[in-house]
Amino acid sequence: MNVLVLLASIIALNTANTTMAFQADPGAELKIVYYGAKLPDLTKGALDNYSAQRAYPCYGVIATEEAAFAAIHPDGNRTVQLWVEDTSLQAWEGGQVLCVNCKDNYYPLRVKIYYKTFRDQDMIETWIETVNEGKKPVTLTRFDSGHLPIRYDDVWISTLYGTWANEARVNSEPLTRGWKMIRNIDGARNSQTSHAEVMISLDGKPREDAGRIIGAALCWGGNYELRFQTNDSDYHHFFAGIYPEHDNVVLAKGKSFATPHLALTFSDSGLSGASRNFHRWGRKYMLRHGDVERRILLNSWEGVYFKINEAGMFQMMDDIAGMGGELFVMDDGWFGDKYPRNNDHTSLGDWVVDTRKLPGGVGSLVKAATEKGIKFGIWVEPEMTNTVSELYEAHPDWIVKSENREIVQGRGGTQVVLNLAKKEVQDFAFSVIDNLMKENPDIAYIKWDANCKLAMDCSNIAYWEGFAALCDRVREAYPDLTIQDCASGGGRANWGVLPWFDEFWVSDNTDALQRIYIQWGTSYFFPAIAMAAHISATPNHTVRRTTSLKYRIDVAMSGRLGMEIQPKDMTEEEKDICRKAISDYKRIRPIVQFGDIHRLVSPYDEKGYASMMYTSEKLDKAVVYWWRTHNFYDDHFPRLRLSGLDPDRKYKVTELNRLDLKPLAYEGKSFSGRFLMESGLEIPATNNVKASLRSDWSSRVLLLEAE
Ligand code: GLA
Repeated sequence: MNVLVLLASIIALNTANTTMAFQADPGAELKIVYYGAKLPDLTKGALDNYSAQRAYPCYGVIATEEAAFAAIHPDGNRTVQLWVEDTSLQAWEGGQVLCVNCKDNYYPLRVKIYYKTFRDQDMIETWIETVNEGKKPVTLTRFDSGHLPIRYDDVWISTLYGTWANEARVNSEPLTRGWKMIRNIDGARNSQTSHAEVMISLDGKPREDAGRIIGAALCWGGNYELRFQTNDSDYHHFFAGIYPEHDNVVLAKGKSFATPHLALTFSDSGLSGASRNFHRWGRKYMLRHGDVERRILLNSWEGVYFKINEAGMFQMMDDIAGMGGELFVMDDGWFGDKYPRNNDHTSLGDWVVDTRKLPGGVGSLVKAATEKGIKFGIWVEPEMTNTVSELYEAHPDWIVKSENREIVQGRGGTQVVLNLAKKEVQDFAFSVIDNLMKENPDIAYIKWDANCKLAMDCSNIAYWEGFAALCDRVREAYPDLTIQDCASGGGRANWGVLPWFDEFWVSDNTDALQRIYIQWGTSYFFPAIAMAAHISATPNHTVRRTTSLKYRIDVAMSGRLGMEIQPKDMTEEEKDICRKAISDYKRIRPIVQFGDIHRLVSPYDEKGYASMMYTSEKLDKAVVYWWRTHNFYDDHFPRLRLSGLDPDRKYKVTELNRLDLKPLAYEGKSFSGRFLMESGLEIPATNNVKASLRSDWSSRVLLLEAE
């Protein structure tokens, strides 16, 4: 039994390594008394030591306290006072669900506060459900998914910020007096400029392998707000929920509203420990097909952009098949009749094959891929249209727009968003996928893009409810399809979206150096199996940087490896290098895609290099990445001390993607896990390669195998 009932009113929820405890006295507010490392011997005496905090503060009765919830009753009263009526605890296969059933002590408003434990992953999801039990409508003006009081100390938070082509940059800062707000109102791409996740370090500046960390992820694809209040009390208060200012929820008689889930984890093994919890939970319960290895693919975008044609697609398929790849994805540019999609100004919504470019249609491409022994995938953007399109001409009323205002147009000067709150628009968006799949049942992969913000007034909640209905329908019809979530790059890296998707495109920026920073931040919350990372050309198309092919490979190999390049512009030697890399990646794929992350040296510490590794679940294998992040003559780097290994086992070291003329001194040799973690490995600062491959970038990938 996983629950410890200490008093009638005190409930402790336990996961394998954590405890969250509540005081739930009927006729009083729900209080939270503890969240942290497991306290199996939590006793009433110990609880006397805590000043229990309001678990889910509502506005009104103590009007000076920041609230997680606020409502306006039919008579205009704006106060809410929730009292516990009863609690129930139910087991599910992965843990338990606690429901604290609360009711306003005057008005007919019920709020159920849920906590769901994921025993083996040390996660607890919380959310609320509100029911209007009265006769007249109630307006909810704030409806956070959760609130967590954190005892005052040297508490730091690490959040992710960025923009297009620079997503998921890490920012760590102490929580000082006042407010820290992370808010995203893009509407459609809520992880492009900020992320709905945060790491909270309870022991000062966060470290990767030590220190107590609380991680939080709001599982919601729409607008959100994460807020930290540090005031004159003994607590930092953390709130997270849907951004309410554009979207009051009006609950009619008998109607209910459930918030998205806020996933919380606790680890005393630093940031990497919290990340491992997110990854395990994500792979098992959130990400689509989280236990299935991902295919190695070539995507056409950076290779040909809009210049799609049949011969070109056949050639790219031949090339990726020849390098050992498993999937070819035709990106944007394949559709449009009246308005051919030759650039981003037109055609979204007109999902008919442009037979001028592809005379044999999608069918001949799927057939060719099958003949070449690979799978075929295709790009779509089902939620969008351009004002220059046949779809828009036929259905100008299908787009999101504010009445009596000019339409705000996005990408290409003409892109607009279809209003998924409308059933007929959901039907249309479903037909985009459904028609493709019905005509070509062997399509194995869809890249689902979204390149426009919701720039005009609309209910963001209604949009995302429409999105959920659409995705449910797609998944019901096509449960096995691999679907990539892309939104101008990493604009939809969020646990509210990923349950329908297999992976996401981390960033349109494929520059290896900048990707180290972007992928580092992304890995705080998302596992490598979900992070699409592609080898691209140099100079890089976004930042114009020239890096060595090995460096680009060594970075892409730390995620879900793919290629995004025109192979016909590569030399035979470069293709050979990629062929070898793909074969090496197949060896390490289960370690990367199902393993545990240990981030070793952060690029954000600007030490001139960065390093991370994955260990297999059984600790019999590991793969280590080391990338130089700047190049100054006379740089000296310390030995690389590894992490997460079994100290008592011996591991043989093999360098992958080796181009160096001489093997590393320890190539093929074995060392104990203890030695590797305490003493560490010498990593030469440069790659000693033949003259034609020399570059100012150096990197290593090492495979460790237990004997
Ligand atoms: C977005 C995506 C890219 C590519 C283009 C196509 O920018 O992030 O990967 O698919 O759209 O227009």
